[in-house]
Amino acid sequence: MVSRTFRTRAMAATVAVLALGLAACGSSGSGDSSTDAATGGGDSGDLINVGFSQVGAESGWRAANTKSIQDTLTKDNGFDLKFSDAQQKQENQIQAIRSYIAQGVDYIAFSPVVESGWDAVLEEAKQANIPVILTDRAVDSEDKSLYVTFIGSDFVEEGKRIGEWVNDNVATEPINVVELQGTTGSAPAIDRKQGFEDATKGNPNVKIIASQTGNFTRAEGKTVMEGFLQANPDIDLVYAHNDDMALGAIEAIEAAGKKPGTDIKIVSIDGVKDGMQALADGKINYIVECNPLLGPDLADIIKTLHSGGTVEPRIVTHDDAFDQAAAKEALPTRQY
Ligand code: AHR
Repeated sequence: MVSRTFRTRAMAATVAVLALGLAACGSSGSGDSSTDAATGGGDSGDLINVGFSQVGAESGWRAANTKSIQDTLTKDNGFDLKFSDAQQKQENQIQAIRSYIAQGVDYIAFSPVVESGWDAVLEEAKQANIPVILTDRAVDSEDKSLYVTFIGSDFVEEGKRIGEWVNDNVATEPINVVELQGTTGSAPAIDRKQGFEDATKGNPNVKIIASQTGNFTRAEGKTVMEGFLQANPDIDLVYAHNDDMALGAIEAIEAAGKKPGTDIKIVSIDGVKDGMQALADGKINYIVECNPLLGPDLADIIKTLHSGGTVEPRIVTHDDAFDQAAAKEALPTRQY
């Protein structure tokens, strides 16, 4: 399979060639002194000004994603990065984006906490001629001209891969499933639910007996799982939309005197270190990866646009999947 980095670099090379002879795209050029003035006098020289609005710090995945972006969009690499943490609140993201528009940054990138409600602020960015790049999560805007590209995983596919593994490995006999959903209204929660349901709808052995949000956090995953355990004595499998909620569920299952991974099987999405360790330890049964290392691809996209090139409107990143044996093998060299 072609690696994510290779595909993006190949794309960057292609567009760089295409860029020759093309006029520079709509954003302000690098080193534009008016941009420096608009940033409040900061001397960013030839650096590309990027405003990035992050969802929050809700999970291990998010921490790895933030690190990847901050480690890549550095001054040494040609960027002046303004970074803000929205604490999982849409109003904070809208405020941050408006502030980046007011500062006249060259590019805005953000990972939207929820799918809906972005049209007005994205229209403001468009009017200000600032290209917007969606990373990790999608918006449901019908007007695709409001952003240049969306880079991230295929969340429906992730949920589908989990469902297929469950069909083949657990639901060969009737099972009761509980689902820990991600943040309500977020793209990964909507899509991972749909993907799992699509994959399992033809299997009469799969019965989803409870489904509730744990907001992608370990603490809420634990609390919701405690409620599931009290209300349902016969849970066979937990489908957690991310590793952090699976780790919270493990705590709740152990506190209830049961063995996670054996008495109650657990499947989840992300593949962060703690999740992979729990998988290797036999407490989780299967993980579909969601690669958080989007910084290098984001940098490539911005540099391509900045040199007048174009990028694909949707760039899907590559994700692996791990059972317990594969996790043991992958852990020693795992980057996050
Ligand atoms: O949008 C990606 C998801 O957000 C990750 O799977 C989850 O851990 C994070 O909070």
